[in-house]
Amino acid sequence: DSSSLLPKSNAKWTERQRRLLTEIANDFTVSTEKLETLTQQFVHQMRLGLSTHDPQELAMIPTFVTGRPDGHERGSYLALDLGGTNLRVCLITLKGNHQLETHQKAYTVSDYLQQADVAELMDFIAASIKEFIYSEHISSKIVEHPSGSDTLELGFTFSFPVSQTAIDAGTLLRWTKGFDCPGAVGNDIVMLLQLALDRNDVNVHVAALINDTVGTALAHSYSHSNTFVGAIFGTGTNGAYLEDTRNIKTMTLDSNDMFINTEWGNFDKGKNCLPVTIFDNKLDRESINPSFQIFEKMISGMYLGEITRNVLLHLIDHRALFDGASSTQLNMHSAFEAKFMSVIEADDSESLNRTARVLERYLDIHLSTQTDREIVKLVCQLVGTRAARLSAMATAALIRQGLEAGSLRNQGYPLKTSLHSEESVDQNGNGDASRPPLHVAIDGSVFEHYPHFEERMYDALVEVLGKHAKDVVKLGIARDGSGVGAALAALIATKSVTNSR
Ligand code: GLC
Repeated sequence: DSSSLLPKSNAKWTERQRRLLTEIANDFTVSTEKLETLTQQFVHQMRLGLSTHDPQELAMIPTFVTGRPDGHERGSYLALDLGGTNLRVCLITLKGNHQLETHQKAYTVSDYLQQADVAELMDFIAASIKEFIYSEHISSKIVEHPSGSDTLELGFTFSFPVSQTAIDAGTLLRWTKGFDCPGAVGNDIVMLLQLALDRNDVNVHVAALINDTVGTALAHSYSHSNTFVGAIFGTGTNGAYLEDTRNIKTMTLDSNDMFINTEWGNFDKGKNCLPVTIFDNKLDRESINPSFQIFEKMISGMYLGEITRNVLLHLIDHRALFDGASSTQLNMHSAFEAKFMSVIEADDSESLNRTARVLERYLDIHLSTQTDREIVKLVCQLVGTRAARLSAMATAALIRQGLEAGSLRNQGYPLKTSLHSEESVDQNGNGDASRPPLHVAIDGSVFEHYPHFEERMYDALVEVLGKHAKDVVKLGIARDGSGVGAALAALIATKSVTNSR
């Protein structure tokens, strides 16, 4: 009964408000059955992606990162993290014994640079690294120079879809998250950066290129063994996991397991399984990359506010909110931000004071009624809950793939492999709840700061994977996974180069 989705306090709502909100609640609710269907679809699309280079399928990119760190690694490395409005340059000193030290500085990537020629973007990055090295006296802070020379080794976390050909080479497939710099797509990102470093006289060698999901998984592995997934729920969303290399049909390899960057933000491209609403479609059409990253657009911080704004405008146009009147501010694209939703969802006061304040201060809406505020809060809850449930679905799909076909097979994890299956997975039919937990390393502002996101994810994980999911699957924050992960990748890359010489 969808009317039960409305808050109990709705006695003062008009018939029209109740009808419209019931419809919207229906559109945004992802039932347990739907979660299960989507999980199956997701696993299916993963397998297609693992067996083809067809750009219509999930990218499922081999990362050339085989194996995980165990916390004993040592050495000083530079790390670079680019994936949103901030560029971070870090010096990471790995001390062994699961201890490390980070020294870092952030530089703003202006709107202009996000769409400027890629050479200009790379020159900016090179100049930032140079500034970091000199102003922070980096050479004096280096404990152990891994290569013995005075060239600094750098790991680059570049959080866009890159088709990798080695741990230190890969071409950009397409830009996402509002970036659109000409000259990058189809070109090797490592080479573009190395050229810029050389051109700007910066004595740094780019040793590794990784996605932020992989960085997050590596960084978490430094302190939690058995990290199976690295996921980002922030400006964008994506996940990487450890796959049995025999399942990777797009290449031949001689190692056992390798991290795969799924690029799940583009899940369901051209397939129409996702329950998209008219509000999602409107957002997509007005975006910089229409028809791409539809899944990301339902989940990540860059878009949640805009979906909510679209719903609010629809309600205003139907005279079911703010007495039918919008404001110049609320009419502006992107004016409603995910961080407002966080404040509103956390507003437990009876008269929804904090919600009223957000509406006044940031959206220029001064005369909201109690009903208006209840409706605004409900819309945020619907959009936020859907995001968390879809996030859990993708996470569950990676684990399912591992259980059914990959590196978690026959390990006795007591998790469901289908909606009606028993919660036991080993050959003898025995589940073992005492197995070491499966760690899911997570970074990103939405997971970290959005109210109830984690608990909503756990609820959905239990619906898909069964009641033991709560104990077996450990969602954990890997803060600064991109920085530490890049350093670990540089270490792995330089060590394997030394070994093979
Ligand atoms: C986008 C990028 C992806 C990245 C994610 C999270 O989806 O395409 O590479 O991992 O954002 O930052």
